[in-house]
Amino acid sequence: MCGCSDSEWVTKSAVSYFNPEHSHNPLSGKLEGAKGTDWRKSEDFRDTMTEMEPIRVGVVGYGHLGQYLVERIQTEGTKLGLTLVFVWNRNTDKLRDNVAQELILHNLSDFANRGADVIVEVCHPKVVKDFGVQILSEAHFLVGSPSALSDPHLNQQLRQTAENHGKTLYVPSGALWGGQDIQRLNDSGALKTLFIRMSKHPSCFRLTGDEPSDWTEAKGRRVLFNGSVAELCPIAPNNVNTMAAAAIAAGSLGFAGVQGEIVSDTALCDYHVVEVEVTCANGFSVNTVRKNPAKLGAVTGSATYNSFWSSLQLCKGHGGRVHLC
Ligand SMILES: NC(=O)c1ccc[n+]([C@@H]2O[C@H](COP(=O)([O-])OP(=O)(O)OC[C@H]3O[C@@H](n4cnc5c(N)ncnc54)[C@H](O)[C@@H]3O)[C@@H](O)[C@H]2O)c1
Repeated sequence: MCGCSDSEWVTKSAVSYFNPEHSHNPLSGKLEGAKGTDWRKSEDFRDTMTEMEPIRVGVVGYGHLGQYLVERIQTEGTKLGLTLVFVWNRNTDKLRDNVAQELILHNLSDFANRGADVIVEVCHPKVVKDFGVQILSEAHFLVGSPSALSDPHLNQQLRQTAENHGKTLYVPSGALWGGQDIQRLNDSGALKTLFIRMSKHPSCFRLTGDEPSDWTEAKGRRVLFNGSVAELCPIAPNNVNTMAAAAIAAGSLGFAGVQGEIVSDTALCDYHVVEVEVTCANGFSVNTVRKNPAKLGAVTGSATYNSFWSSLQLCKGHGGRVHLC
């Protein structure tokens, strides 16, 4: 573990970044060298990055997203200041051929021994429920299954733990477009309504328990559920993380106040569609439609993988709070 608090980390970083030959241009926001070039693109900068203490990352879950993130950390982590300290999966056989023996964590309860700065959950909401509080007491926590936060008790517990321990609960924007804008509208008090519709091929849904009784994979378009995100999360925990991220961004509406709809459409063989409709009290409104290429049967659209990777690189400590990234 870096072994320093957030403020110490910032100070250390600032010292490492300081180079009298480079100045900060307040207009461009860039660190500039003598010829006005962006220092961050220079070899000097890359050298400085590699000299900094890397951020130690633990990955919980080795399914599609876990494998993708582990591979990127292993191939690109060094130059970006990330290093892998453990990977956990409930079935370790899956890890054996792809992850060095010393990086395999056999018992998730032992995670603290690895001294991770950031722990990424890409597994299942149940793991957030069972280990989230413990993890946040020790490290920043990037929660890939934010649908777990639809449980108001767990939501409150995680927020409190983040505050008590000065750790950040990161929520990746995933397939959500405009999450930061929604958060800004929310924080300004202007946000009135938020509606999200996710449409996918029926093979891309993983519903549990209470799915509608007339659910079939027959041809055509069918609304499977329409209601609050709070009601939807327990029914389709693996399909509504985007809606959960939106409900966290729109904290004043919360899971009960944000409306969601999931639609099964056999015409959607090549992509998922996420539609977001935002309205504000003053008449301002935004509608977005996001097409995320996805193979038949894929729960996660392909652009979401890269989005997770970008989110991970932002997890450098934002204090004891929830942060959409
Ligand atoms: N935030 C987002 O936008 C977003 C996008 C895609 C996926 N997700 C979520 O991220 C998580 C991982 O997604 P994925 O596509 O890699 O899924 P996946 O099914 O490919 O992998 C999940 C892994 O977790 C394991 N697992 C499943 N249930 C478990 C349980 N109860 N306890 C312990 N291990 C369990 C599986 O064996 C597998 O190794 C899922 O919860 C998914 O819903 C979130």
